[in-house]
Amino acid sequence: MAVVSGIRDLGAHVGETVTLRGWVQTTRTHGKVAFVVLRDGTGIVQGVVLQKEVGPDVWERFGALTLETSIELRGTVREERRAPGGYEIGVQDLRILGPSHDYPIQPKEHGPDFLLDHRHLWLRSSQQRAIMLVRNEVEKAIVDFFYDRGFVRVDTPILTGAVGEGGAGLFEVDYFDDKAYLAQTGQLYGEAAAAALGKIYTFGPTFRAEKSKTRRHLTEFWMVEPEMAWYDSNDNMRLQEELVSYLVGRALERCKNELEYLGRDISRLEKVTPPFPRLEYGDAVALLQQHGSEIQWGTDLGAPDETILGSIYEKPVFVMNYPKQAKAFYMKENPADPRTVLCDDLIAPEGFGEIIGGSQREDDLDRLVARIQEQGLPLEAYGWYLDLRRYGTFVHSGFGLGVERTVAWITGRPHIRETIPFPRMLYRLYP
Ligand code: 4AD
Ligand code: MG
Repeated sequence: MAVVSGIRDLGAHVGETVTLRGWVQTTRTHGKVAFVVLRDGTGIVQGVVLQKEVGPDVWERFGALTLETSIELRGTVREERRAPGGYEIGVQDLRILGPSHDYPIQPKEHGPDFLLDHRHLWLRSSQQRAIMLVRNEVEKAIVDFFYDRGFVRVDTPILTGAVGEGGAGLFEVDYFDDKAYLAQTGQLYGEAAAAALGKIYTFGPTFRAEKSKTRRHLTEFWMVEPEMAWYDSNDNMRLQEELVSYLVGRALERCKNELEYLGRDISRLEKVTPPFPRLEYGDAVALLQQHGSEIQWGTDLGAPDETILGSIYEKPVFVMNYPKQAKAFYMKENPADPRTVLCDDLIAPEGFGEIIGGSQREDDLDRLVARIQEQGLPLEAYGWYLDLRRYGTFVHSGFGLGVERTVAWITGRPHIRETIPFPRMLYRLYP
């Protein structure tokens, strides 16, 4: 009997007898013929049982199969163009491995809260699996992109003593007799590593105690943060558009079936190639006001502003050089307009919002100290970070790309909670 590693490989075993293990996705009986769709994580295949070809006990067991029962099927592989996947199994034997009674998720509409309460089971659905496969591809593509360009991956701590992005939105945890914060960013450590290794990236979970209940905010999300010695803000944006185009290209190349299954308009993604349009913050404000936004010079873009920009441009668009007061302390003052800093946000099209935040870093010690004080952050916690400006300061830039928002955009999911296996949000810590 042929050993197959999974349903995905059935094409190499046509005419052979194989054994498969997996979960029952659907069943149906048609007189003396019964069908089961089996899922094993690598694919799905239809098993066909003819009453006259199997013993009465196999026929009976087959008839009693329920959703998500785990089973072992033995049978012959046949080509069948009409079946999902293009093959089917002429079943000879069936073994029940784990029964499943009253599976909570039925083939009908369920509300989002119900599905999120059952996230551990919801993940088995075809849609959720397609999203996870795209996420898997995006994560692998991120690592390939940086590895191929000579970046060194540096894993930065999750338990930290210094605030990375600002006092609000911090998770505080007891750290023996002290307090620690869950990392909002790996960036400050990335900057230290860039002076040691040149071009680096961090890739891991980050935490924000966001009180906002929006489609775009999680309290735990994954971020990739490259940091490059000797890159200015312009070099930084060039790398961003290359990375984003590469990630979209990889998804199109290797996950086309999943994107089609999810109903994604692929022609929109095919337009994502460098260069991306760039807007100065002041010009963006003027443009947004023309389109009915109430934004005033000085504030960050709101979600509705991002949606407007995402409908004007077909590609992701950079908004650059924001006012100082709207951005984090570490961004470099813009020599051409000291009210602003050398930074950029990358806004995805079609209303998916900001997927990247990046900047050139303040490399002047005195200005950096002043910015930390202006923002009311404790100077003593940044002693080591200031050392990077004391001992061989250097022009450097970097950015952070949020994995979930990127996957939401690529897959076309309106809410990022579906793009991470187990989302953490304001009111959700289980499962
Ligand atoms: O713009 P942010 O806050 O930038 C930073 O954290 C910098 N330290 C990055 C750097 O320069 N190294 O976050 C970067 C990206 C956002 O553009 C967004 O994609 C994602 O991280 N992000 C979130 N994703 C999900 N839920 C949240 N609450 C997020 N906050 C930010
Ligand atoms: Mg941001």
